[in-house]
Amino acid sequence: MRYAGTVAVLALSLVLATGVAGGERRSAGQEFPSGVTRETVTEGRSVYLGKGLCYVCHGRRGGGVERAGSSLRDTLWYHSDGSYRSITELTRRGISARASATNIPMPPRGGSEIDEEEVRAAAAYVWWISRGGDPGGPGPRQ
Ligand code: HEC
Repeated sequence: MRYAGTVAVLALSLVLATGVAGGERRSAGQEFPSGVTRETVTEGRSVYLGKGLCYVCHGRRGGGVERAGSSLRDTLWYHSDGSYRSITELTRRGISARASATNIPMPPRGGSEIDEEEVRAAAAYVWWISRGGDPGGPGPRQ
């Protein structure tokens, strides 16, 4: 009996470790929001650091820039409930000076030319780093 139990535990650990049980949406204990994969987050990082201009105001690693944009890596949200949906919405719409906690506005899409898909990808990257994900990105699947 004891032996059977141990075997079951080992088998279960193996399944969890290889990710079979959680499917490919799992990473470091995080459940990706619906429609988001590690590829979306990786793509979002390039948008964030490139065309989306997010890094200009929020820092290259999302830690924030004084007198520009707040940190996107702390658990403090001024305008969002921290959900992927609300981060996407904010990224799309921006934040008016009146609504801003610092009176500094965020232009819609950060003032950049990114399209809807890139908005979602950038938001997925922000979602990722806000949950303690590596700012370097999720990396390739193990
Ligand atoms: C021109 C500067 C600027 C750029 C570029 C910019 N932001 Fe912002 N962002 C801000 C400011 C300012 C705030 C509001 C901070 C406050 O209320 O004090 C903000 C807030 C946010 C918030 C809400 C944070 C919270 O605490 O609720 C998110 C999410 C966000 N930005 C994402 C992005 C993304 C993604 C991009 C790139 C597409 C981006 N931002 C580009 C200036 C910028």
